Amino acid sequence: MLFLSSQQYSRGCFPSLIVISRLICCCAIVAFTLSCSSSAPSSTSVIEKKAHPDGHAPIGGSSDYQTSTSCKNCHANIYEQYAESMHGRSFENPIVKAIFFDVLLPSTRNSNALFEEVSACIACHSPLTFVRSGGDISSLPDEGDYIPGVDCDLCHTISGYEGSTPEGGNFISRPSVKKLGPFKYKDDHHRSYSELHTKSEFCAICHNRKNRYGLEIISTFSEWKESSYADKGIECQDCHMNIQGFLTAGEPVYESGTAAQGTLITSKERKKLYTHRFPGAHSESQVVGAIQLDIEIDESAVEAGKEMVIYVEVDNSKSGHKLPTGSAELRLLYLELVAEVGGRNVHIAANSLDKKRFDVSGKGKFDSKFIGKEILPGSRVYRAICVDPEGEQALFSFDAQKIIFDNRLEASEVRQEFFTFQVPDDIGQPFTLSASLKYLRYPGSLAEELGIEEAKPITLATVRKEVQLK
Ligand code: HEC
Ligand code: HEC
Ligand code: HEC
Ligand code: HEC
Ligand code: HEC
Repeated sequence: MLFLSSQQYSRGCFPSLIVISRLICCCAIVAFTLSCSSSAPSSTSVIEKKAHPDGHAPIGGSSDYQTSTSCKNCHANIYEQYAESMHGRSFENPIVKAIFFDVLLPSTRNSNALFEEVSACIACHSPLTFVRSGGDISSLPDEGDYIPGVDCDLCHTISGYEGSTPEGGNFISRPSVKKLGPFKYKDDHHRSYSELHTKSEFCAICHNRKNRYGLEIISTFSEWKESSYADKGIECQDCHMNIQGFLTAGEPVYESGTAAQGTLITSKERKKLYTHRFPGAHSESQVVGAIQLDIEIDESAVEAGKEMVIYVEVDNSKSGHKLPTGSAELRLLYLELVAEVGGRNVHIAANSLDKKRFDVSGKGKFDSKFIGKEILPGSRVYRAICVDPEGEQALFSFDAQKIIFDNRLEASEVRQEFFTFQVPDDIGQPFTLSASLKYLRYPGSLAEELGIEEAKPITLATVRKEVQLK
């Protein structure tokens, strides 16, 4: 444990120094397994008798959250999916740890204004650490410690959110043996129906965030609310918790089977189960197919030595929010168009439509510093540019005061891009145009600054087109 003394945070938003006690309920699994195998109401179990750290007996009786591995005993399939997702690793993620420990914490030594941001990071990225300390994070785990992410038990004990808007990690959760979920049948000792879990508001608790300047630096939920999907009642869960991670022909395709597996339990066969992989930018294979590209040209006008016009359609109609969404300060999406002419690849540059030229890589005033070698110069870039109070580009969410540029694809949008290409004089044969839409979680320059591994560009979509000469 690393103890941050109260002197370091002298203006004291979090005056008391407490130790986050880590209660690991080994006995809880045993007690629970026994009581769960029958459908009769349970008598008080071992865990229910334990005192809660803050002295109040929690609803349902359990004194601490159960580990995700304890759920694995009966929910093996869900556990396997969850283990692939970013939720379990939301703090054990090199870029999160590096920014938190190496950039943010050292700066709070001089500025108490940043301390609230520390608490916010923990609320969303390690909510168990947050609730176990009762929100008092003046003593934090050490950088080398394992820090839990968004665990099963945290999500399934969220009973609401503070205030009227779900955002900034404002969940209400207490340890409980009752797990809240989507099944609408008579409650038992283990579970109970929760409408919130079936709604986007549940996700919004962590997928919408205002920083210390009041800037909505993560606005995935707000973007969804303005989309046609919200009108149609298609929730985050319908896309992200179906098998594909998006809609196939406009409809979610769900898994079927039992929600729990085991010899001692009887679990109903269900037609509709929600997968827990939560595919996104981190999970390359699952997101392929969500975004589509198309190339259109007027073939009757393609001639050697003449300029031709190429249209590329970028179809974001399958996502329920902007693309890229989420951490506005980091995410980069870019379109590369290449002509493969006689064994050579000719990169076709995009025209800038923006005065400040932030929509084409290498042209904006911050690009020489921030956009590394990953993105070919002249590619169309879809991104938000965040700046700090000095007007410099901010790559840390807590420094961003304003978004000065934002051309990200809107939810449901099909954007048409327009390129021109000078067909070489000596071309002599048909050639191929190839367009790719790529995603980069964070720029290479940031990886270098933080000393972490570079993000691998992910190809979300590609399309090729053979061009015949006139
Ligand atoms: C990020 C929050 C989150 C995490 C983490 C999470 N779940 Fe869920 N889970 C949900 C939501 C939301 C639903 C309901 C989706 C709906 O109905 O729209 C759900 C549904 C379920 C269901 C009902 C069956 C089904 O598949 O629909 C079970 C059982 C379940 N979760 C168990 C688990 C277990 C076990 C883990 C960890 C291995 C886990 N969950 C991790 C949010 C989460
Ligand atoms: C002893 C076996 C067992 C263990 C261990 C277990 N569960 Fe369950 N769980 C079940 C069974 C059985 C169901 C009912 C499934 C159904 O109705 O289809 C269930 C249902 C659920 C539901 C659905 C709630 C609803 O009504 O919608 C959630 C959520 C859930 N479990 C979460 C968890 C979490 C989180 C853990 C770990 C902390 C866990 N479970 C551990 C057996 C278990
Ligand atoms: C209509 C389907 C749909 C809905 C509704 C939807 N999403 Fe998505 N989401 C997608 C698709 C498609 C992607 C893109 C996957 C990819 O990266 O190719 C995506 C990507 C994401 C990503 C990672 C992308 C990035 O840019 O880093 C997150 C996080 C996310 N969604 C969260 C949410 C949340 C939270 C909600 C609800 C407020 C939601 N989504 C609603 C389809 C949907
Ligand atoms: C308690 C907070 C919390 C809740 C509730 C929550 N998430 Fe997340 N989610 C996170 C965090 C934190 C990450 C980032 C993990 C990382 O990249 O380090 C994340 C990551 C994701 C990703 C992966 C993004 C990527 O780039 O690969 C998707 C998709 C996602 N969440 C969707 C959802 C959906 C849908 C819901 C609602 C059913 C939901 N989340 C509920 C905190 C939460
Ligand atoms: C409201 C909840 C919330 C708060 C507060 C929050 N985050 Fe996040 N963070 C997320 C979610 C959700 C994601 C993943 C999806 C996305 O990009 O929005 C994420 C993504 C990230 C990523 C990118 C991870 C990757 O693998 O690409 C970093 C880095 C990060 N957060 C750091 C921080 C730091 C540092 C703080 C505190 C200053 C913080 N976050 C505060 C919810 C939050």
